[in-house]
Amino acid sequence: MQITVNGRSISINEGLDGEMPLLWFVRDFVQLTGTKFGCGIGQCGACTLHVNGDAVRSCSYPVSALSEGDAVTTIEGIADGEKLHPVQQAWKEFDVPQCGYCQAGQMMAAIDLLKQYPNPTDEIIDQNHDNLCRCGTYDRIRKAIHRAAD
Ligand code: FES
Repeated sequence: MQITVNGRSISINEGLDGEMPLLWFVRDFVQLTGTKFGCGIGQCGACTLHVNGDAVRSCSYPVSALSEGDAVTTIEGIADGEKLHPVQQAWKEFDVPQCGYCQAGQMMAAIDLLKQYPNPTDEIIDQNHDNLCRCGTYDRIRKAIHRAAD
């Protein structure tokens, strides 16, 4: 089966264990390590990436759930060449990360949130953006999402 990862064509061999979480496929087979492992049970969001533009928690998304031609996008694939994605730009402007570990997933979730709610209120952000951050960067995340929405 052929999929794309950040626009690059990637083959998934029939011999691959279909139960392998997409997180490990992306990290170990495609060698893109920006997507992080946190809880492993679909709750923290550190592993968030996009499949066909929708955020998924890749630790709980088996490779077998992919279909021919699916487009996977990771944090490494959201910039336009040298030009940062507006969400990355806002994250930089507000100096959002503290330890940084969860922030790739935070940004991938924020991009999906902005697709659904192009101009979200704080309430909408709080209700829909439930990625966890142990450093408690939530206030800066909220500000950055508002800036990216501008
Ligand atoms: Fe996937 Fe926590 S590592 S949701």
